[in-house]
Amino acid sequence: MTAWNSMYNAMHAQDERWPFSRATLRRIGAFARPHRAMLAWFLVLSVVSAVLAVAAPMLAGRVVDAIVHHAALSTVLTSAALIAAIALADAGLGLLTRWLSASIGEGLILDLRTAVFDHVQRMPVAFFTRTRTGALVSRLNNDVIGAQRAFSNTLSGVVSNIVTLALTLAVMVGISWQVTLLTLVLLPMFVLPARRMGSRMARLEREAADHNAAMGNQMTERFSAPGATLIKLFGRPARESAEFAMRARRVRDIGVRTAMVRSVFLTALTLVSALALAIVYALGGFYSLQGRLEAGAVVALALLLTRLYAPLTALAGARVEVMSALVSFERVFEVLDLKPMIEDRPGALPVPDGPVSVEFEGVRFAYPSADKVSLASLEEVAGLDTRGGAEVLHEVSFRAEPGQMVALVGSSGAGKSTIAQLLVRLYDVDAGAVRLSGVDVRDLSSDSVRETVGMVTQDGHLFHESVRSNLTLARPEASEDEIWDALRRARLDDLVAALPDGLDTVVGERGYRLSGGERQRLTIARLLLARPRVVILDEATAHLDSTSEAAVQEALGEALDGRTAVIIAHRLSTIRSADLILVVEDGRVVERGTHDELLAAGGRYEELYRTQFDQRLTLDEVA
Ligand SMILES: Nc1ncnc2c1ncn2[C@@H]1O[C@H](COP(=O)(O)OP(=O)(O)O)[C@@H](O)[C@H]1O
Ligand SMILES: [Mg+2]
Repeated sequence: MTAWNSMYNAMHAQDERWPFSRATLRRIGAFARPHRAMLAWFLVLSVVSAVLAVAAPMLAGRVVDAIVHHAALSTVLTSAALIAAIALADAGLGLLTRWLSASIGEGLILDLRTAVFDHVQRMPVAFFTRTRTGALVSRLNNDVIGAQRAFSNTLSGVVSNIVTLALTLAVMVGISWQVTLLTLVLLPMFVLPARRMGSRMARLEREAADHNAAMGNQMTERFSAPGATLIKLFGRPARESAEFAMRARRVRDIGVRTAMVRSVFLTALTLVSALALAIVYALGGFYSLQGRLEAGAVVALALLLTRLYAPLTALAGARVEVMSALVSFERVFEVLDLKPMIEDRPGALPVPDGPVSVEFEGVRFAYPSADKVSLASLEEVAGLDTRGGAEVLHEVSFRAEPGQMVALVGSSGAGKSTIAQLLVRLYDVDAGAVRLSGVDVRDLSSDSVRETVGMVTQDGHLFHESVRSNLTLARPEASEDEIWDALRRARLDDLVAALPDGLDTVVGERGYRLSGGERQRLTIARLLLARPRVVILDEATAHLDSTSEAAVQEALGEALDGRTAVIIAHRLSTIRSADLILVVEDGRVVERGTHDELLAAGGRYEELYRTQFDQRLTLDEVA
């Protein structure tokens, strides 16, 4: 048993009861069903190999009898040849059963992994805003592997050990029930302390696992570029190191303790089986001298005994093994059972062809409560908040005709980004409707919405991949020329051409560090390449300085030509030409009109515009 394996068992061994429902077992059955032919073969071969394991000692007994009775040489040689044949067959069978259990186990990993990945990918954004990536990835890795490992261990450990044990015992009883009984008298001496030691080990190893996890967290948090920078600027490296060392020392102590407990356990096992062997020789020898047992039978009993204790040890740990398999399966099922809140309706429609209109009608919306979108165990809390958030949008209505540009302005936290997210159906509205070309987004297929609407978000996330694959996310088939054209229009061609590997330079969190503005221009290039019919820009130029903003603005102007656009503007100067400007405050549209109309009205817009203009003026004066 590897350390990892036992650590894993220990983490899941805290519950001594049997908390698993029939339904769970049935589901596991369903996952095992595709492999049932292999499973059947596995069982058959396990029985065959158990029979062979019992046959060899019997043959050894026959050899001894032949020697004692001065039988013909041929009898001895036949038995020896059979023993050799059994050894060969056993080796072959061992490889075959290992192959079978590995194939079943790995097949199970494959099925579970793809099922979980596929399912998690369909979860709404709300789920990802709540869940810690680490917890989710561990669910995908550790639990899936844990389920598989325990499943194969149960198969190869429990099944074949029970068969071996039963057969060996039966044969031993057949030879001499008295001797067999006496050897088993010692068993409780070994099994009882083993159980107690098992639970102590589990406790220690659970503690070590917690410390290891905490150290892992500390390392991943502190050793990222932003984390390391923060520690250098504000942190106390000495304290960080001390905390880390404290945990590392505790892990060392536990490591020594568990190693000792383990070796005491193994020594006890060896001792008990050696004592039992002495009993076989004593009692068996006594019977043999009395003429009640053949010498060969005593030898056979002694050899069989050595095969009795190994399966017993394995089975002593089997309960933990099976329980941890079931726990892992349950944790995987828990994720599979999460209902994606947003799913395509059966017979969902594509967005109608041609220019697209965008319409909000009486939209009310509150962000969903945690219990609707997540799992307590993934957020590492005891229970999830069941309170929904306060309503963020109240009765929002507006309409952008095909090809029009609607601009949203308003203070931060007003609900502008929320409107953008509802438009691409990252969330569903609580009341009212969002429509594209007159069709409710809930009736449209998500693929079609994704193709129709393109969004550039504020943070402009890039994957840790090449510039090319970041750009072609939405259009993998884009040609080299199209890519460079998009880069040129986003005023990024010079920069990319100067990168060490050009388009194949890896960017993102750990790659070549692009500045905020460059990053934003890259996401704009991505949008230009995707050429969606509706464009949403959520403060897409916020990180740009005035010069590059002017350049990108020009590029965006080209890109927006003939497209329907919803623009959330950071600087009001960029939206003067909008067909409709909405001033959003506290989740309501408080003013609407064109730039000139709103300025003339002298309301909130005029106030926003004036403060910005003043700021600009001051900044320019300073510069
Ligand atoms: N994922 C979320 N869960 C809960 N509340 C959110 C979430 N995102 C935003 N909010 C809240 O919704 C309100 C509107 O936010 P947002 O639409 O991002 O404003 P804006 O883009 O206008 O600055 C804010 O009060 C914000 O705190
Ligand atoms: Mg926003």
